[in-house]
Amino acid sequence: MQFSTKRSTPEMRATPCIAVGVFAGRKLSAAAGALDRAAQGALGEVLRRGDMEGKLGSTLILYSVPGVAAERVLLVGLGEETKLREREYREAGRAAIKAAQETGAEMLTLCLVEIHAGRRDASWKARQLALMAAECAYRFDSMKSEKSEPRPLVHVELLTGARDASATAHGLRQGEAIGAGVCLAKDLGNLPANVCTPAFLAEQARKIAKEWKLGVEVLERKDMEKLGMGSLLSVARGSRQPPKLIVLNYAGGAKKAKPLVLVGKGVTFDTGGISLKPSPEMDEMKFDMCGAASVLGALRACAEMKLKLNVVGIIPTTENMPGGAATKPGDIVTSMSGQTIEVLNTDAEGRLILCDALTYAERFEPEAVIDIATLTGACVIALGHVASGLYSNKETLARELLAAGDESYDRAWHMPLWDDYQEQLKSNFADMANIGGRPAGSVTAACFLSRYAKKFAWAHLDIAGTAWKSGKDKGSTGRPVALLTSFLMRRAGKGP
Ligand code: BES
Ligand code: MN
Ligand code: ZN
Repeated sequence: MQFSTKRSTPEMRATPCIAVGVFAGRKLSAAAGALDRAAQGALGEVLRRGDMEGKLGSTLILYSVPGVAAERVLLVGLGEETKLREREYREAGRAAIKAAQETGAEMLTLCLVEIHAGRRDASWKARQLALMAAECAYRFDSMKSEKSEPRPLVHVELLTGARDASATAHGLRQGEAIGAGVCLAKDLGNLPANVCTPAFLAEQARKIAKEWKLGVEVLERKDMEKLGMGSLLSVARGSRQPPKLIVLNYAGGAKKAKPLVLVGKGVTFDTGGISLKPSPEMDEMKFDMCGAASVLGALRACAEMKLKLNVVGIIPTTENMPGGAATKPGDIVTSMSGQTIEVLNTDAEGRLILCDALTYAERFEPEAVIDIATLTGACVIALGHVASGLYSNKETLARELLAAGDESYDRAWHMPLWDDYQEQLKSNFADMANIGGRPAGSVTAACFLSRYAKKFAWAHLDIAGTAWKSGKDKGSTGRPVALLTSFLMRRAGKGP
């Protein structure tokens, strides 16, 4: 999708399709009013006939409107004016783009930056519209022999006034970069596990690094052995696919500035190992590398926006398979930190690969470390598919991430990391067990990780419920790329 901004009045803009908002009660937005005046009341007349009430997300296309330069006028329902906030704004934008995609128009001019969305500024709105367009344009058909028909709509233009022009253009460029990061994460997530293996992820990381001038290093099994990553390696034992530890480096900040480190869980397929998962929906465990994908997506967006900060991405990646050499329940492994772990359930493998990656992060003397992982089914039970679970050992970092989630509408919810929960990880035979029983399963998983994050400010995002959708819309969501990039943009001092 191509994006641009245009300073013009709605009625003068000669475009294949122009979208203007209509509030509930058939109230015209400013742009719709301008078209109506140019058309000598033709829009108001259509509304009076009852074809469009202004209900949120509804659309109506009018052709050959007199006095208007555009070929099509797309009316977009905005709902109650006083209730229009972030969610409603995004829905209206999405509806407009979807409706335009059904026409033969190759370009859509959106007059929606003028619409109030809570207290959000023009840059936020432009960013969101770009993200909605990227979302609507997204398709995953690389594995189908018949590709979907290309849609005529290839260009989205935002109409602005003089006052908002530069903020709109800036936000649009940011949205484009974030959208590309989201798409990258979706593509990697959607690929099947026989294609998207640890070696494939490493290859993709190398490709991205080359294109965006990032540093890249891939640690092999023997390197991990030397480092003493017994916990990560214990997960890889049951698989034919060799594990990898991918390290990416984006150096956009001052040489001496400490980096932010993003750690992404990259289990390319999680069978559960010897603690084998039940068959139904097991295919969805190809999405168990969505944390890794979000790190790659966020780094790509960061590089495209040329953010002035340093970011390191660490991706421990492996399959979790029940091979003959696989780790067995009761096995005790020694992590890179020296702490020993009794593996009571081989299906709690995410924390086993993340703990060694967290210890590895120490060498970068990080400003903060954030890990992103499809870690627990319990998090899905707690928060559903709306919010990611957020845990942190530093209150201010947690607040920053929550704010980034709200800003990007890729929201997280703060969960407790109280010491009281740590007791559940007690083992009779090792320093800790890798599971804490059924109660508060997402919390005890975070507690486990916290034991490897004592030397830095750290946060953990459990994205088990948000990284993909099941059912007929099955597919990766690209979350939380938007949250992460919003956080990084703030840290780089570049808004939002
Ligand atoms: N990748 C899964 C978590 C998961 C499960 C995400 C279902 C989304 C949907 C993780 O490796 C796992 O299996 N966790 C176990 C932990 C348990 C054994 C303590 C779980 O959640 O069941
Ligand atoms: Mn598992
Ligand atoms: Zn897993």
